[in-house]
This record gives sequence, C-alpha cells and structure tokens, in this order.
Amino acid sequence: MQTKLNHETALEILRKYNSESFHIRHGLTVEGCMKWFAEQLGYGEEKEFWGICGLLHDVDFERYPEEHCKKAVELLQGENAEPEVIHAVCSHGFGHCSDVEPQHEMEKVLFACDELTGLIWAAAKMRPSKSVSDMELKSLKKKFKDKRFAAGCSREIITEGAEKLGWTLEDLMERTILAMRSCETDVNEEMQKLGME
Ligand SMILES: [Fe+2]
Repeated sequence: MQTKLNHETALEILRKYNSESFHIRHGLTVEGCMKWFAEQLGYGEEKEFWGICGLLHDVDFERYPEEHCKKAVELLQGENAEPEVIHAVCSHGFGHCSDVEPQHEMEKVLFACDELTGLIWAAAKMRPSKSVSDMELKSLKKKFKDKRFAAGCSREIITEGAEKLGWTLEDLMERTILAMRSCETDVNEEMQKLGME
C-alpha cells in the first residue's frame, strides 16, 4: 500500500539512512527551498509534496554514494513512498548518476537548486553572519566563478539546471538565495531540536 508521506515521516526516513548532520541540514534546506519555489511558481497546493521530494532527494547518498539515485528506489519503495516521489528523487541525478529524466517542473527545480544550495551554504558559512540573509547576488556570482571555492559543487550541473528551467543563471541564483532565506530560521530551529549543528 502506498502511504502519503508527510514532513515527519519523510524526516524519519531520511534519518534512518543518514547520520551526518550535513546531510540532514541539506535535506531540510532543499525541502524549504522546494516549498518556496512551489508557491512562487503557482503550485501552492502541491507545496508539501515538493518539499518531501526535496527532503528525501539524497536519501541514499551517505550510505551508498556509489549507487546514488539508484539505491534510493529500493530504499523508498521499502518505505512505501509514492512513485512520484521516487521518480523525482532519481531524476535529480539525470545525466550524472541516473537516466531518469526530470519531466515535471518540480523535478527541474529540484535538479537546479540542489547543487546550488550547496554552493550558497558554503558561501554563507564564510560570512561573519553565517547566514544567507545578507548575501548579495554579486558575491555569490564571484564564488560561482572561483572554481577553487567549494570545488565539489558542480558549476556544470547548476548551469544545466538553469537551462532546463529556461532561466538565466543569474535568475536561478537570485531565486535560490531568496528560497534559502525563506527557510533558514526554520532549518536552524529544526536542527537544534534534533540536537544537530
Ligand atoms: Fe543534494
């Protein structure tokens, strides 16, 4: 039987397969961003669903990095996740570790903002405020161009993501900063509640 996941049950699943706080924070951040994008793009009533896909997108990454976006199918089927969630999760690695193509606009947003939130988070940590609240687009663009900064965040994937959405790179960056601002406090609070940094 398929169960409709909610924030609590999805977070439980994420924590079952992930122990590092980095992965939990990343999941919560992408969840918050996806909810913001859902509202912005006219999918307000699907916002919880967009969020769940964001929260669970890297569910298999900590334990099964070699099978990223593939092991997720088995894990999520075992948790009775909806096929739509599983499709979205797999599609965020399209062309890199998955051959499931992002189709729905939600999946394209997930593909585009996942990698970029990683870069923004790395840049925010360098700021005295340790926050995206005072981060300017200009400084993010500089970090994007500096290939040595957060070298693990693929500039190619971010660029590809913007193209898939038909947005300029600048537009994607600007929107993702706003999306991260919208959820930063909630993510910090939730991490605190979990006893994680
Ligand atoms: Fe991710």
